Amino acid sequence: MTDKSRKLRIGAFLQATGHHVSAWLHPDAQADAGMNLQHYKDIVQTAERGKFDLVFVADSPGGYADFKDEASFRQNAKAAHFEPVTLWSALSQVTQNIGFVATSTTTYEDPYTTARKFASLDWISGGRAGWNVVTTGADVSANFSRTEHLEHSKRYERAEEYIDVVKGLWDSYEDDAFVRDRDVGVYLDTDKFHLLNHAGSNFQVRGPLNIGRPPQGYPVIVQAGASEPGRELAARTAEVIFTANLVIEDAQEFYGDVKSRLAKYGRRREDLLVMPGIFPVLGGTEAEAEANYEQLQSLVHPEVAWGILRRHYQGADLSGYSLDDIAPPLPTETNGSKSRLKLVTDLVARERPTLRQLYRQVSTARGHLTSVGTPEQIADIIQRWFENGAADGFNIMPPILPTGITDFVDQVVPILQRRGIFREEYEGTTLRQNLGLRRPENRFAGHVPDQANRA
Ligand SMILES: Cc1cc2nc3c(=O)[nH]c(=O)nc-3n(C[C@H](O)[C@H](O)[C@H](O)COP(=O)(O)O)c2cc1C
Repeated sequence: MTDKSRKLRIGAFLQATGHHVSAWLHPDAQADAGMNLQHYKDIVQTAERGKFDLVFVADSPGGYADFKDEASFRQNAKAAHFEPVTLWSALSQVTQNIGFVATSTTTYEDPYTTARKFASLDWISGGRAGWNVVTTGADVSANFSRTEHLEHSKRYERAEEYIDVVKGLWDSYEDDAFVRDRDVGVYLDTDKFHLLNHAGSNFQVRGPLNIGRPPQGYPVIVQAGASEPGRELAARTAEVIFTANLVIEDAQEFYGDVKSRLAKYGRRREDLLVMPGIFPVLGGTEAEAEANYEQLQSLVHPEVAWGILRRHYQGADLSGYSLDDIAPPLPTETNGSKSRLKLVTDLVARERPTLRQLYRQVSTARGHLTSVGTPEQIADIIQRWFENGAADGFNIMPPILPTGITDFVDQVVPILQRRGIFREEYEGTTLRQNLGLRRPENRFAGHVPDQANRA
């Protein structure tokens, strides 16, 4: 039986000019979007008008610099964009309810700085911050005075400890530690101050953090890896998972699998929300939606198409192939995203696409669900996945911005609201309240600190 009280979650997964690889060439796109604050302000306010739970930006601490792939390099509209926490701090000031999920890597940063900046974002936004914890698939070691990119399993090992340290630092002060009583001259109740004194295999961190406990206790923890260690990390620590699935059967497998891992960590199924991405290409009629899709695909320069394919084949020489040849099997191993390699490998095995069909599939949303249709048809897909154990919500991935978000808010959201599966008003003022997530206790609350815990 359908649970009527269960509400769909909606996020806007934003890439500056839109998710399509050649979005910036479209006449509706804002070509300088990556560094245009007014552009982001408009789309975030539109998402809030649509009662979205959150906005989200992906990030990597390094730019794309493949000089060999001239055309892809020259046409790379993602080359320049704002740092996410900085961007969201600014935009939290022109919104009231929507949540702000920013990506930050556990492979190239330090827990102390991460804890500090997300605590700040949570305070600045009044409890609307979320941290998308990523281990970074791309090798950006050259930016960080390192000689190599950590191996996949080591990245996850580090991420496990990293999150524990960050949460521990957020607990440095209890919620009511800052009494600021001028009459008695007490700013801080020192019984409510705790040193973490973490000594682990990757990190040694004493604490305390130099900011009070975040309004949400902890900013919402989001995770987006889906390999075996990625799923375990999410099951133990995350409250939202962003994921990519092309077909409902795979989404159901993923959904069932991660939810079933929660009990062993003492968590309930509703403590972790699963949100796949959807790239909706809308049209007033099916024919119009198809035409919009074809217009987008016509923008892809042939060399950009080959660049996409070469990246999926990890640099293999494809010069002997034409775009009309059947796609050969993909490499079996990667030190990048294992789950994305599996997704594309499964696609090639299932659909036996030509190389042209393959690049067209991934040029839209890199392996997320691409849906071309009328607003009713897009709403049908969302509802079907939501009601059949495949999703708790969706990350909307606008093909082009700003129009992609405006169209979704004006055309699809009212249908979801009429069907009673999406909110008409925000339930709360924090991201946690709107997502229906519990506020975590401070691990030290009620424990009087001993002398060893004093600085
Ligand atoms: C919706 C979504 C968003 C993601 N955003 C980022 C990102 O911003 N930065 C990044 O380095 N990886 C990002 N990833 C990749 C994952 O975080 C993860 O690092 C990658 O999939 C490798 O892990 P896996 O092998 O466990 O899948 C994203 C993945 C998904 C599904």
